Amino acid sequence: MVDVLVVLLGLLSFLWLLLLGGRRRREGEPPLIQGWIPYVGKALDFGLDSLAFLKKNQEKYGDVFTVYIAGKYMTFIMSPLLYPSIMKQGRQLDFHEFTDQVAPVTFGYPPVRSARFPDMGDQIQRSFRLLQGDNLVTLTESMMGNLMLVLRQDFLGGGKRGAEAAGKGWSTGGLYDFCNSVMFEATFLTLYGTPAQARRHSDMATLRHHFTQFDNKFPLLVARIPIWLLGQTKAVREKLIRYFLPQRMLYWSNTSLFITKRSEVFEQYDALSDTDKAAHHFAILWASVGNTVPATFWALYYLINQQEALQAVRQELHHVLQLPGSQDPREPEVMISKGQLDQLVFMESAINESLRLSSASMNIRVAQEDFSLRLDEQRAVAVRKGDVIALYPQMMHMDPEIFPEPQTYKYDRFIEDGREKTDFFKNGQKLKYYRMPFGSGSSMCPGRFFAVNEIKQFLCLLLLYLDLEMEEGQEEARLDNSRAGLGILLPTKDVRFRYRLHCAPA
Ligand code: HEM
Repeated sequence: MVDVLVVLLGLLSFLWLLLLGGRRRREGEPPLIQGWIPYVGKALDFGLDSLAFLKKNQEKYGDVFTVYIAGKYMTFIMSPLLYPSIMKQGRQLDFHEFTDQVAPVTFGYPPVRSARFPDMGDQIQRSFRLLQGDNLVTLTESMMGNLMLVLRQDFLGGGKRGAEAAGKGWSTGGLYDFCNSVMFEATFLTLYGTPAQARRHSDMATLRHHFTQFDNKFPLLVARIPIWLLGQTKAVREKLIRYFLPQRMLYWSNTSLFITKRSEVFEQYDALSDTDKAAHHFAILWASVGNTVPATFWALYYLINQQEALQAVRQELHHVLQLPGSQDPREPEVMISKGQLDQLVFMESAINESLRLSSASMNIRVAQEDFSLRLDEQRAVAVRKGDVIALYPQMMHMDPEIFPEPQTYKYDRFIEDGREKTDFFKNGQKLKYYRMPFGSGSSMCPGRFFAVNEIKQFLCLLLLYLDLEMEEGQEEARLDNSRAGLGILLPTKDVRFRYRLHCAPA
């Protein structure tokens, strides 16, 4: 069987080279790396270890080269000093062409930018503003209440589960599982609201379970593997989508303005079925927790592992809130305003440092025409219509020249003289872009402020109410590279931790 496959692959490659000849590099274009497997090109090498692959090619070909990956010619811009020129090319390089190809097949809704839905893409873009500015204050307040609700009832002694935890001193658990269960539900309640007669949805654990099943296949869907080849994924996605059908959401209260506005936008389009509308809401669920949950995990994991960092961040928190040592969760909840969150500069640096270490998102633009892409004052390269221009900031995040000892977690790396540090250098030049977990330029994540706030809130509550330690005798958490290019990496497996109420008897 393997022999037959090899022969078939060989024949296909031969035909590909003979009939299409792959692609020939033209004058002025970057070096071209094609591989010999039709369509796949260098996708396997890239997927195996993207950082090593890119580094090797950078050494061989320089800062700009084109690689054929899964049917696309992708021109990688490796030096962060060249990033500003890419951001400037708004007209010829488009972000949404790519998402409009990938998101519909991944989440199961019809392409947004089509004649069937005039102006819908722009209305959706405008809805993103509701994640920022004044609305961020409302979202942050609502998130605080929801985090407190879930934590109290499940872990701090409020509900049955919480009471068990509070009663017996130390409790143990999987750290990822813990972050996931709290952040998933609190984010969900904040964005989509509560059921009519209760403060929590009774089927959240099932929703989360289906979400995880879908999320495990997410990289394959983005790589355009047809969903019918992925086992139960289609059925699972249908269940997830059905959760958001308009007739169900109608009964939810305290829904955020962001989601309410999006529902109003979808109502304007008769060509959009109820299932399509629900699929859009499901996509936002993915955007809002798909990266935030692993980011929360890494932020907490690194802090617990480095007691010095944990103490410094805890001290700052008590100083900003002007609170004594420990808090009792049975007492009225502590209020933390958005202004106070903004003052937590050490905590923010610690979060940014864990994002630096765990993020592997690729920033993608599609060339709208054949043109000459100016890289700097001396250099330009020819680019063809339809080609992808890709930035891979993980290379920059791991560059020892910019971040000394890049593999080491330094919670205060982004602090200088008690303030945020913004001076980072490459080849003696100050970098305009040096931290890019949220993408860049016009396509930057619209939920980034909310995301950092909610991670801060989560950490604040844990540090106020709980003692936290890793269980001894286990391996360090490692990054799972299977979603390299798609955002925050998950750990290869969960790690065990223990926690108890600060105020519990020893
Ligand atoms: C740590 C958490 C998060 C990370 C690391 C993250 C990262 C990203 C990245 C890398 C992009 C693509 C940007 C680009 O290619 O230039 C993106 C897009 C997006 N993110 Fe986030 N994100 C996070 C949390 C959130 C949250 C909490 C929300 C919503 C509540 C959100 C909503 C979105 C949306 C709607 C887009 C698509 C924007 C568009 O199509 O123009 N994200 N995010």
